[in-house]
Amino acid sequence: MDTLLNLSTPAVLLSSAFGLTALGGAFTVCARLRQERERFRIDNAFFQSTFQASAVGMTVANREGHYLRVNRAMCDFVGYSETELLQRSYQDITCLEDFPDRERVRSQLLDGSLPRLQREVRYIRKDGRSVWALVVASRVLDQDGDVAYWVSQVLDIDSRKHAELALIESRRQLRELSKHQESLLENERKRIAREIHDELGQRLTALKMEISLLRLGFGHNPALFRIADEMRTLADGTMDAVRQIASNLRPAVLDLGLVPAIEWLAEQLYKRASIQVHLDLGTEDIPMDDNHVTVAFRAIQESLTNIARHARAQEVRIRLRGSRAGLDLQIQDDGIGFDPARLDSQQGFGIMGMRERVTALGGTLALHSQPGSGTRITIAIPLQEPT
Ligand SMILES: Nc1ncnc2c1ncn2[C@@H]1O[C@H](COP(=O)(O)OP(=O)(O)OP(=O)(O)O)[C@@H](O)[C@H]1O
Ligand SMILES: [Mg+2]
Repeated sequence: MDTLLNLSTPAVLLSSAFGLTALGGAFTVCARLRQERERFRIDNAFFQSTFQASAVGMTVANREGHYLRVNRAMCDFVGYSETELLQRSYQDITCLEDFPDRERVRSQLLDGSLPRLQREVRYIRKDGRSVWALVVASRVLDQDGDVAYWVSQVLDIDSRKHAELALIESRRQLRELSKHQESLLENERKRIAREIHDELGQRLTALKMEISLLRLGFGHNPALFRIADEMRTLADGTMDAVRQIASNLRPAVLDLGLVPAIEWLAEQLYKRASIQVHLDLGTEDIPMDDNHVTVAFRAIQESLTNIARHARAQEVRIRLRGSRAGLDLQIQDDGIGFDPARLDSQQGFGIMGMRERVTALGGTLALHSQPGSGTRITIAIPLQEPT
């Protein structure tokens, strides 16, 4: 603007000095026009060189999506020559699967409801290969405020996207594997628990009966009677231990459903650590398969084990709500709490394993805790497995 003023000033002075106002005015307009033209030429040259030299693909398309301008990087990216690309529209080279979404967003961009479009999309190259790009597009309006054309920047993210997709796929496979291992482990626990209970249990019961007979037979011999008595006590203790081992592996009460299993866990915590557990388990009987029952049970079991080991809590509250849609669980203690941000795998795998099992069923686990304020774990599990 300053330049414009400076250049026009001599003409204005000249015109007023000689009283040739009209002539002076014409000079000023001409000088301005020349300036405007020059500025337009520079802007245009700047745009041209930036457009062509850009390492990022750039396109200018009309309202309908036909390319009006494309740069070298865009041609290289999709494998077409400039002439070939200018005979096409963006619809011709967009991957079919991405097309409905792109059309929807494009119409939002054109009608102004979306100021700027930013999307990861796939183009189909001339050789038929699809390539990922990050497209940032905006519209350019004419003097009447109508869309004249839209300009896109197309960033090649193909390698990054493939690496990202490979990572997602490998995480999915790992999760599937861990789910599979988890269910193998659970079935194995079930089998061993049953065998210990049935096989050892039966044999120990038989042994106990035999010892009782021996004890009766040794009534006349106090020394042998006392030994038989001790043997019976030993057999009783062994039976308790066997029951406990089988229960630790997989409590039989789990076969009765989640609610009785939680009640059993609460009793166990009270017996072992004198921590009172308040249960709010709802009234509805939630229909769910064995896998969901086991995941919820193992999560509560790990939370209660953590409370007994780390929390120094007085009280625990367990809240369970469920419907056909899903399961909501909350386990809260009034213990010393901890900083979840400082959790790492060095410390243990309990919480990590819990989260993995819940995530594998499409659920979420949130951990709220801070030193001095207890710990709350919230778990939501959908009862429909993700596809
Ligand atoms: N309820 C809690 N109150 C206080 N600290 C807790 C609680 N739950 C977990 N923590 C802290 O979080 C850490 C990680 O718990 P996590 O269950 O993952 O591992 P761990 O219990 O140490 O070992 P394990 O692998 O045997 O479960 C614990 O070491 C403890 O410091
Ligand atoms: Mg633990």
